[in-house]
Amino acid sequence: MKLASKVAVITGAALGYKAGGPSIGSAIAFLFAKQGAQVVVLDINKEMGQRTADRITASGGDALFIHTDVSSSEQIQQAVKKIHDHYGQLQCLVNCAATYQGDIFHTVVDTPEEDWLTVFDVNLHGYYRMAKYCIPLMNASGGGSIINISSIAARQVVPGFAVYHVTKAAINGLTRVLAVDHAPLIRTNAICPGFVKIANSEKDRNPEELDQWYANIMKSYPAKRLCTVDDVAETALFLASDASSYMNGQCLTLDSGRCIMDAHEY
Ligand SMILES: NC(=O)c1ccc[n+]([C@@H]2O[C@H](COP(=O)([O-])OP(=O)(O)OC[C@H]3O[C@@H](n4cnc5c(N)ncnc54)[C@H](O)[C@@H]3O)[C@@H](O)[C@H]2O)c1
Repeated sequence: MKLASKVAVITGAALGYKAGGPSIGSAIAFLFAKQGAQVVVLDINKEMGQRTADRITASGGDALFIHTDVSSSEQIQQAVKKIHDHYGQLQCLVNCAATYQGDIFHTVVDTPEEDWLTVFDVNLHGYYRMAKYCIPLMNASGGGSIINISSIAARQVVPGFAVYHVTKAAINGLTRVLAVDHAPLIRTNAICPGFVKIANSEKDRNPEELDQWYANIMKSYPAKRLCTVDDVAETALFLASDASSYMNGQCLTLDSGRCIMDAHEY
């Protein structure tokens, strides 16, 4: 048990749509619970968030769902108070919640200002608020580990998805700031996955379309397979556990080598 007697809060930890398909946050919650952590599932999705906590409990783990919108400072402060009242301690924060709502598949010029700000409020400021209000409890608990789920989008740009890329780059900056300011009690690292196979991105594609779509994506990854939610969860477990006790301020790329590959033909 790598996380025995630790309490971990994971944002965006609800199972994905279509009867609870895979999501990165829920995979982390399941694995952490299996490794002995008491897991706090935090999400804006009430039904799936509760279902995630119920499944963990049904399989013998310890989980609590707290319905929270990470764009609300008040709701986050209430959630941290609940964690304090329920467990009295907190050793791990995983920031994973993200929204893709709004008219955001655009350049800086074409993204409506209100949609830009909404995405910032969840995808970046949600991480900031969680860190701000969890760190005092983590310090009082003897310290721990913060893990920010970032993306290769922090360093490689898909044209016409401006706001997402800027938030992910800023998350890597936030990771380094937290790492320096809150050591030695708290270590902060980020995971930057490439494309991860999750239920929410399947949308209404039929199985044939999905196979074709996935096969095309796989081609650009040296592993020639997609990153799974379990690949991300195992990396998060490493960062949450004492096995990574000397690692701080790092943004780990999880893409099987795609970003370092030179795709030019010579
Ligand atoms: N899926 C990928 O290919 C991929 C690749 C790299 C990084 N990521 C990152 O992984 C993380 C998980 O996202 P995902 O892509 O797996 O999508 P997802 O939709 O499965 O997960 C996002 C979760 O955040 C929750 N959420 C949204 N707004 C919220 C709010 N205001 N308050 C609380 N919870 C909220 C959603 O309900 C959902 O459960 C994100 O940070 C994303 O940027 C995803």
